Amino acid sequence: VATVTRYDDNEAVIRDLAQYSSIKSLGSRVDAVMATLDAERRAILREELDFFGLYLPGVDPPDHTRVRGLAHKAFTPHRIADMEPTIRRMVDELLDRAEATESVDLMEALCFTLPVLVIGSLLGAHPDDTADLRRWSEAEANFSQSIANVDQIAASRREFRGYIRRLIAERRHARHTDLLAALLDAEEDGQRLKSIELEAMFAILLFAGHETTTNLIGHAVRALLLHRAQWELLLRDRSVVSNAVEEALRWDTSSQMIHRVASVTTELRGVTIPAGYSVRLVLGAANRDPERYPDPDRFDVTRTDLRHLGFGIGPHYCLGQALARLEVRVALEALLERHPDLALAGEPRYRDNMQLRGLETLPVRLRG
Ligand code: HEM
Repeated sequence: VATVTRYDDNEAVIRDLAQYSSIKSLGSRVDAVMATLDAERRAILREELDFFGLYLPGVDPPDHTRVRGLAHKAFTPHRIADMEPTIRRMVDELLDRAEATESVDLMEALCFTLPVLVIGSLLGAHPDDTADLRRWSEAEANFSQSIANVDQIAASRREFRGYIRRLIAERRHARHTDLLAALLDAEEDGQRLKSIELEAMFAILLFAGHETTTNLIGHAVRALLLHRAQWELLLRDRSVVSNAVEEALRWDTSSQMIHRVASVTTELRGVTIPAGYSVRLVLGAANRDPERYPDPDRFDVTRTDLRHLGFGIGPHYCLGQALARLEVRVALEALLERHPDLALAGEPRYRDNMQLRGLETLPVRLRG
């Protein structure tokens, strides 16, 4: 594996679709796991990996261009902006519940629940299904960490793909105006998403938009409470909140790394990368590159020129970035308004995951 840490090198590799492929190469990892399985389980794993291969971040052009183009038709800025009052209501309801006690774990009370409620509502899921959506999302995260747990992922996928098919069938029979209905309607040059692509799109929107946003809300609150003067600054001037969201993502990057595979033998900073080699792009390091940012380790919500790689860049640029930015801004605005004295009430604990950096617990005191 080649590891890339500089900002400019990360950007160059991510933009270079001709030399670097996004198709996930699990190579020797798959062979090693396959060798431990019986024939029936090998077939199941193959099928689950094929479905995984349809998730947009792991698709190359021309399929990527076609599917992404269709997704854009449904995932419009207008549709996202319209979500603001709904998101605010969801945050208020979660905080109303949390307020019964003086100290809470903000991860549990707000950060884990809000993104799955939001994406669930956007996709047309019923609020009662949130626990299922969260469970399926966890199985997916486990699978991306370790593909050995074949039975768990197969059972989870059976359930949630059945669930998606039911939602799709409902939309084929009655008029809906949600994102899923729009995805069904989306058409370009006479092409629509194939059924299986639609299922994979639903899945990736659910999974990609869930844990990463959870982590960013947690990181933003932790960073602001550790740097009290900056929390105070936001209390005085809400126009800085959007910039604080960007700085939180730069300073404590939720997707610490993404991966590519060299399609041809190539060179980077004088180092040869043979064809077929995996390339690990450490976005968290790029976002603190001293060649790119002055004093990169300082958390500063008033930073200018805050372009960062937290959402990637180029053709695979995060499809849900506008939604994620909106959710985190609304959550921070609600906390500032309702709990100006918010303070850390213990040591936050990080989860043991190198790729998806996120807090497990964030104990806070809501009142001064
Ligand atoms: C703070 C929250 C989020 C972070 C840090 C984040 C991060 C990223 C990154 C780094 C990529 C680029 C992957 C690559 O180039 O290989 C990406 C792609 C993607 N994200 Fe996000 N994301 C977030 C929220 C969301 C949300 C809310 C959604 C959906 C509702 C979403 C859906 C996607 C999808 C579908 C892609 C693949 C796009 C493509 O390959 O064309 N993300 N995200």
